[in-house]
Amino acid sequence: MSKSTDELFKNVISHAKEYGFVFPSSEIYDGLSAVYDYGQFGAELKNNIKTYWWKAMVQMHDNIVGIDSAIFMHPKIWKASGHVDGFSDPMIDNKDSKKRYRADQLLEDKIASLIKEAVDEAKNKTNQKYNTRIELEEQIDNEKSTVNLFNEIVSGIDINAGEHRYINTPGGKSEAFNWFTHLILESDYFKKAIEANTKLNEHLKNEDLVGLKDLIIALNIKCPVSGTANWTDVRQFNLMFSTQMGAVADDADVVYLRPETAQGIFVNYLNVQKSGRMKIPFGIAQIGKAFRNEVIARQFIIRMREFEQMEMQYFVRPGTQKEWFNQWKEARLKWHLALGTDAAKYRYHEHVKLAHYADAAYDIEFEFPFGFKEVEGIHSRTDFDLSQHEKFSGKKMQYFDPEVDPETGKPYGNYVPYVIETSIGLDRMFLLTMINAYEEEDLSTEEKQDSRTVLHLHPCLAPVKAAIFPLTKKDGLPEKAREIMDKLKIDFNIQYEEKDAIGKRYRRQDAIGTPFCITVDHQTLEDNTVTIRHRDSMQQERVPADQLDKIIGDLVSW
Ligand code: GAP
Repeated sequence: MSKSTDELFKNVISHAKEYGFVFPSSEIYDGLSAVYDYGQFGAELKNNIKTYWWKAMVQMHDNIVGIDSAIFMHPKIWKASGHVDGFSDPMIDNKDSKKRYRADQLLEDKIASLIKEAVDEAKNKTNQKYNTRIELEEQIDNEKSTVNLFNEIVSGIDINAGEHRYINTPGGKSEAFNWFTHLILESDYFKKAIEANTKLNEHLKNEDLVGLKDLIIALNIKCPVSGTANWTDVRQFNLMFSTQMGAVADDADVVYLRPETAQGIFVNYLNVQKSGRMKIPFGIAQIGKAFRNEVIARQFIIRMREFEQMEMQYFVRPGTQKEWFNQWKEARLKWHLALGTDAAKYRYHEHVKLAHYADAAYDIEFEFPFGFKEVEGIHSRTDFDLSQHEKFSGKKMQYFDPEVDPETGKPYGNYVPYVIETSIGLDRMFLLTMINAYEEEDLSTEEKQDSRTVLHLHPCLAPVKAAIFPLTKKDGLPEKAREIMDKLKIDFNIQYEEKDAIGKRYRRQDAIGTPFCITVDHQTLEDNTVTIRHRDSMQQERVPADQLDKIIGDLVSW
């Protein structure tokens, strides 16, 4: 990670804490690893993201409905879904430090560091040969086509952000740059990385735990903490949290905290279909908590042990799944882009290795400061889940389709529907939104130095829609300001602030992304007008107070 992106990310994390968006859980007890709490503005922002999703998925589709299923479910559900036997990560312990690691992650980190060695070596050699360091740096930064080249070669390797900076950005190619690329491709480090990556994927695909350990030894991976390499064997570590239900602690009472919200939809699909008289294709959406005992927790709220998902299962006629999969893949990316995010920050990642239940899968990835990371998955889950539940519960999971098949002239009849799933991590969407909105803006003029930290949140997502300030604490201005606020707060989340100079109050609202600041001054008492200041442009205008609800409403309405 280059210093500036590293710093930016750290600044976003501390901003999130300082301004009441995200706090480490149980902080006064030194925190709980990979668990976070959302503060007063974080909770608002999170709710607004949920609303944006719910409106787009449920309100805008007359064939999609939303449910809220329980976190606890019958334990057989997780047997049927494959989670009891298969929802695990390969894990290795260091015998000396007693620290636990994900075996695949250790290998991925090693592969990334080999690539970095290859890039550094090639850079040095090219600089020596051409004596053209700056030119090369510029060229590397400007050459976008190279990202395709490297992505092709290292497909499957998640090159970390540091490397991306060198190979990410295109343009024309100089001789020095071609030489640089050539050196990387020829580098022993790079060849070793490609070979290790191929082996890693093979071992993961075949669930070959011995092979993973052998690869760790062959690559001479040291323990990241103690530096020794005294490893246990690689074991599968189930990611589900379990607890006991009822008073008697025997095996029959074990229940799990759901690791995904999807199963609550699958087991209810016929209840919803019948009670709502839904016809295929139809969807069921849900927002809710999910729990995973992640072996390693990384990058703030990206990988948590308790998190929230927004999932939608779309039930379709077998044979039509490809068409629906493509439609949802496009529709979901559009949902992201409609917030005004730069399209270049998003990319699709196709799963080459498919989960046992899927016949197609794409991730939507966002470029975080530490590289591209999955935010949402679109999966074609076949009839796997419903068929499994039919098998394990002994209950029919079939749908009767009365529509006539034009080929046979008869109704399609009974079948187990196929399912397209869209599954987005709410916390990752939250972090994406914060990072995207965050700016440290230099406002210096010739006369004075000045700056502000501002969140350019989409007004629909902003936690507070407008702040109302009386210019001073006297002359009836606070009363007038409160009177205006009382009218607006029925429809919008409004803040009232009378402390500090106006400039300071503006800065506080900029920092939480409030789109409007309204100031009540002496003129307001005479003609009922106020000044309204726009967050992004910082422009102010004078408007009648009774037009405020329309002005705010026009910008923040969905
Ligand atoms: N029902 C399918 C499913 O759960 P997934 O790819 O495992 O698929 C979907 O999870 C989304 O949930 C991911 O794209 C990610 O945004 C989010 N997610 C998964 N694990 C997470 C974790 N430990 N912390 C935060 N978000 C997570």
